[in-house]
Amino acid sequence: MDLPPRPVPFDFHGVSMIKCFTDNWDNIQNFKARTDDILIAAYPKAGTTWVSYILDLLYFGQTCPERQVSVPLHERVPFLEISRPSLSTGKDLADLLPTTPRLIKTHLPVQFIPKSFWEQNSRIVYMARNAKDNAVSYFHFGHMNNVLPDPGEWTTFLTNFMDGKMVFGSWYDHVNSWWEKKQTYSNLHYMFYEDLIEDFGREMEKLCPFLGLSPSVEEKERVSALSAFDRMKQNKMTNFSTVQSMNQKVSAFMRKGIVGDWKNHFTVAQNERFDEDYKQKMKNPLLKFRCEV
Ligand code: A3P
Repeated sequence: MDLPPRPVPFDFHGVSMIKCFTDNWDNIQNFKARTDDILIAAYPKAGTTWVSYILDLLYFGQTCPERQVSVPLHERVPFLEISRPSLSTGKDLADLLPTTPRLIKTHLPVQFIPKSFWEQNSRIVYMARNAKDNAVSYFHFGHMNNVLPDPGEWTTFLTNFMDGKMVFGSWYDHVNSWWEKKQTYSNLHYMFYEDLIEDFGREMEKLCPFLGLSPSVEEKERVSALSAFDRMKQNKMTNFSTVQSMNQKVSAFMRKGIVGDWKNHFTVAQNERFDEDYKQKMKNPLLKFRCEV
């Protein structure tokens, strides 16, 4: 089967983007958020799917068990900005969500978030992952997902990552500007992938009060077990095996799910160059990432 050509990124209001995330722009910007909506925001490959599934289990794991086995996660938690030929747009899927709350996923940098989310004071859960593992995961994802530009060789990809020439823009700008938003918008919970890997229970103790939930011990254990990497990798509703644009023979969507895989990709010289550049871009001493746990 002939594959469609890979898209070419372009500058969109200062952020590198591709058409399938900007084609539906006016509708996205006019999206009518509700007060009880929950927006799950993250830079691509920071663990968006993991958080989406955790929230879906917390809210609907018990009340809608049939959805868990019949509706893929990406339909339960629509991707707001996506629009692909002959498929429903993420915005339309979000509009049609039958649940309360509606869980909605986005990779948009904070300045592109539809204003109704701020006006409605909707809850937002932001997931961040250390730059090195995030870059490695994005590289492999680019190879397996035909919707994205060709990532090319690792060396070139890493340079592009450092230069912010990635779809959804610079990792550095993304994590920093969402962090800054947290200082003025109190309904934003900023989470780290590494923290969740290190101590899932501890992170649930912070997340659930933010969501206004108080699940039982058994319920928390259930969420923890079902959202474990191996379980999600086996689960057809969470492993993206139903998505045509992804060639899981090239690289699995649920690839490794660890902290520190960057050590298998970065050369010593690349690591030194990356660290030097990182210091220049990440000046806020309060925003700290861990590249190992
Ligand atoms: P790797 O490619 O490093 O394995 P996103 O959902 O934002 O696209 O992020 C995908 C990354 O999150 C992948 O990273 C994937 O394996 C990881 N991930 C997904 N579910 C996970 C889980 N339950 N535990 C740990 N990592 C998970």
